Amino acid sequence: MRPVSVLRLWRRPGPRRAAVPEGPARRYGSHAPPGPDPARAHFTTPIFYVNAAPHIGHLYSALLADALCRRRRLLGPGAAARLSTGTDEHGLKIQQAAAAAGLAPLELCDRVSAQFRQLFRAAGVSATGFTRTTEPRHRAAVQHFWGALQSRGLLRKGLYEGWYCASDECFLPEAKVTRQPGPSGEPSPVSVESGHPVSWTKEENYIFRLSQFREPLRQWLRGDPRAITPEPFYQAVLQWLEEDLPDLSVSRRSNHLHWGIPVPGDESQTIYVWLDALVNYLTVIGYPDAEFESWWPATSHIIGKDILKFHAIYWPALLLGAGLSPPRRIYVHSHWTVCGQKMSKSVGNVVDPGACLERYTVDGFRYFLLRQGVPNWDCDYYDEKVVKLLDSELADALGGLLNRCTASRINPSGTYPAFCAPCFPREPGLAGPAARAQAEDYALVHAVSALPQQVAHYYDNFQIYKALEEVSSCVRQTNGFVQRHTPWKLNWESPGDAPWLGTVLHVALECLRVFGTLLQPVTPDLADKLLSRLGISTTERGLGELCFLPRFYGHACPFEGRKLGPETGLLFPRLDQSRSRLVKAHRT
Ligand code: MSP
Repeated sequence: MRPVSVLRLWRRPGPRRAAVPEGPARRYGSHAPPGPDPARAHFTTPIFYVNAAPHIGHLYSALLADALCRRRRLLGPGAAARLSTGTDEHGLKIQQAAAAAGLAPLELCDRVSAQFRQLFRAAGVSATGFTRTTEPRHRAAVQHFWGALQSRGLLRKGLYEGWYCASDECFLPEAKVTRQPGPSGEPSPVSVESGHPVSWTKEENYIFRLSQFREPLRQWLRGDPRAITPEPFYQAVLQWLEEDLPDLSVSRRSNHLHWGIPVPGDESQTIYVWLDALVNYLTVIGYPDAEFESWWPATSHIIGKDILKFHAIYWPALLLGAGLSPPRRIYVHSHWTVCGQKMSKSVGNVVDPGACLERYTVDGFRYFLLRQGVPNWDCDYYDEKVVKLLDSELADALGGLLNRCTASRINPSGTYPAFCAPCFPREPGLAGPAARAQAEDYALVHAVSALPQQVAHYYDNFQIYKALEEVSSCVRQTNGFVQRHTPWKLNWESPGDAPWLGTVLHVALECLRVFGTLLQPVTPDLADKLLSRLGISTTERGLGELCFLPRFYGHACPFEGRKLGPETGLLFPRLDQSRSRLVKAHRT
């Protein structure tokens, strides 16, 4: 069969829709397929190998996707969002791991897949779909996808020869292979990038005409510079497209690799595990049934940097080959190291995420990973860092602030007090005799007013850590505000003090309401506890209508005069109890 022209590959068969919204899918010019509903967003994590138990790096991938998805859901009832995850269960790596453990491959898969599922449930990952590549629906999707490539003449049978790395499940060119002393001291070939052993493979396989896709991939990326974020990764992919782009072997001989999905119509070959795995992103939205089209390509992949080439070159090329659009966005993150070292079973420094969730609480550990993880570069994990961060930002700063504004000693009526406009006039220059607000107080109001927009900007740029840094800095500023005006020294009984005392508390509670609302995607339970304590109902927590301190801007405030929610104890108990004991001892 004659291969189709790559310029026509973006054209997707199927019914056209009447109204096609503007969006990334429209930027491909005249070859753009009809776009999906712009209100829909599908976030995906990579699907995880089941050769070993989950570690904190895996959880980090999932939490990034979860936070993006939860934030999206808070934008309003029209914003439908899905979050998909799963386990990658086929391939040589799993076949070998099962043999080494003396288990049937499916037994190993069942066991470890359940561990991932259990971890994500425990960590509050709000997944709407979980795909195991051993499921029949996935096998059907992969075989259908294979058929689409074949019918377009993009698969040929030929001799494929090269280095194969089973740990990374990829072929490597000679330049990416080096020699290192093996267990016996003899130099043995390993991957330059991962250090994992490689072996020479020579087989008759099916080969995907990847080399035809250099120009379409360039066009896709040039047309959408935000397709891969952060920017250095986008540049890296453009650079790869300048280099050699050989055709890709997409099957292995079944007698070598039996643990996988057979090539349709040729049982002597098993489909390459990466092609199999990547199709999970379609399986989970119902491919090949037409329903998948409302979620594709409205899909954003969250991936680690080690699997960028598979997602930013192979996958978009395969999609284009099958007549589909590339994904909307690819968000890339770096890795966690432990005490300065790469996490590995052989070094024995793998951090168990389940134990961390127990030790630091679910919300505490979510906050830590997302606050400290910087996608652009690797981050180092050690326990003391977690304790220090959570105690200072969640227990002392945020919890302390809530306590200061709601404790019965200072807020005896247990209400959201009234805001007194003359005490805190909108224009400091027009201040009358009742005015008590100072220049720093105006700086606080402006900072917290701008916060929702800033946070939105950071999420959009995959900088959740920066969004949290901004929130934390505003929490600090609010504590400074309270400290400056020492409400505990003001008297509710004094007509001179009471309006200002109410205003100080009102402003601080408004700040807390904004912080609680913005923290929901990262610390859902803690944010719920905070907002419930403030008496904010579940229908008042959306991001679409988040509006800070309306009274300052001359509008009505629905919370003013409202009863606070019940007291339910400390927002976030300190982890380092020794210090809190010391502080108490010092106070008494
Ligand atoms: N099965 C493939 C993905 C297929 S997606 C179609 C795979 N699995 S993995 O289990 O090895 O990795 C899953 C994710 O975890 C990847 O995004 C990877 O980058 C991430 N991490 C693995 N180690 C990590 C750290 N030490 N730190 C952060 N993330 C890490 O690749």
